[in-house]
Amino acid sequence: MKQYRVAILGCRSRGSSAARVYHAHPRAEVVGLCDLLEDRLNTLGNEINVEARFTDLDEMIRQTEPDIVAIPTAPALHAPLALRVLEHGVNIEVEKPMGLNLIETDAVMSKASKKSVQVAVHHQWRLSAWTQAINRAYQAGEIGELRYIYASGKGYYGGFGLMEIGTHLLTSMIKFGGHCQSVTAHATTRGRPITPQDVLPAPRGNGIIAGDHVTASLQFDNGVTGTLLQHRFDKLNLDAHVVELYGTEGRLMWHPRGAWKLPNPHALPVNNNLDQWQALKPIYPESFEQAAKTISGNSSMVEGDYWFVDEYVRALDEGREHECSGAEGLHVIEIIMGIFESSAYGTRVDLPQLNREHPLIRWRNEAGLEELTPMPMADADWLEEENKRLGS
Ligand SMILES: NC(=O)c1ccc[n+]([C@@H]2O[C@H](COP(=O)([O-])OP(=O)(O)OC[C@H]3O[C@@H](n4cnc5c(N)ncnc54)[C@H](O)[C@@H]3O)[C@@H](O)[C@H]2O)c1
Repeated sequence: MKQYRVAILGCRSRGSSAARVYHAHPRAEVVGLCDLLEDRLNTLGNEINVEARFTDLDEMIRQTEPDIVAIPTAPALHAPLALRVLEHGVNIEVEKPMGLNLIETDAVMSKASKKSVQVAVHHQWRLSAWTQAINRAYQAGEIGELRYIYASGKGYYGGFGLMEIGTHLLTSMIKFGGHCQSVTAHATTRGRPITPQDVLPAPRGNGIIAGDHVTASLQFDNGVTGTLLQHRFDKLNLDAHVVELYGTEGRLMWHPRGAWKLPNPHALPVNNNLDQWQALKPIYPESFEQAAKTISGNSSMVEGDYWFVDEYVRALDEGREHECSGAEGLHVIEIIMGIFESSAYGTRVDLPQLNREHPLIRWRNEAGLEELTPMPMADADWLEEENKRLGS
């Protein structure tokens, strides 16, 4: 059985998590680490015992000849670094969101296709143990025919939440609903429809966004509709972070820390119906129990990250795309850009859109506004600046 050689480009938080799960997987071997900062490189290298440490990514790839390069870096670097790594003709995985606009995301797909390698996007929740449990119940017909999908973020500023968390929610929605054919959306700032002045650079360098509340209505290929909410709360609340499948005979609810089934599509919380939700059992990859013993840290994301690696191994073995493929990641960006376009122009947007420009930048340009001024990167500073702009 082939051992897949993996190189990690970026050794801070997400890079360390990625390195740990690849290192723990019996079919993968971390053959090289790269970071611009040597202390990060050495901390991670010492932890997982990898001596091949580099500050130059091209050098790392030339010397270690990996099958996969993981690129867990800041959002603005995803596409530029992906393009640089793909030049070497290796498979990659890139953190979400796959790109900050369609032009750079398209460029990654076209380069990967020219080099005949694959791109996977680190949408680990789409594969996590709770999603596996939902999928098993769904595939077994336990909620009948799917008719509607609801999803919500956990309370980030709307447009930012869409780039940050919406990317995960949307890939789960298209897993069940099929690709998205069209989008109708509303974005508001302080309760009024957004204007070109509300277009802003997002916190954490997460692209160009607008709206503190975003509500999107989506039409999927499988004849199913859905709603995605990215509403800003005063305080983040993980309990809001769900994906719910509504079937003709019941409902399934996913949360980062659980999955439940309601064996009744219309149960009101009366007449002893309060406790009808049934907890589902998480499903892990075969090798997880053993591997988990060697993974340090207790991030709740470990099993999802491990599933992601397991899927990459199986996809490469079978000569097929990863379930969280570049094509799926690109489609998620199409939906996000469609949501922004529909919110700005007040129209239904059919996907995939022909115009690949960022719709909010186009909207601002058409309004004759000057170039965007930079905003703080950290969430709290960003919100403070935004509150000032809005006059409180
Ligand atoms: N999948 C998830 O659930 C999830 C959760 C949180 C964050 N994220 C994503 O993870 C990313 C952030 O991860 P992080 O906090 O670990 O990132 P980070 O930006 O803090 O760390 C990235 C590391 O990459 C290094 N780096 C950058 N450019 C480099 C280059 N050219 N060569 C070598 N090293 C380079 C930096 O020095 C840094 O140490 C974001 O894209 C975010 O959206 C995903």
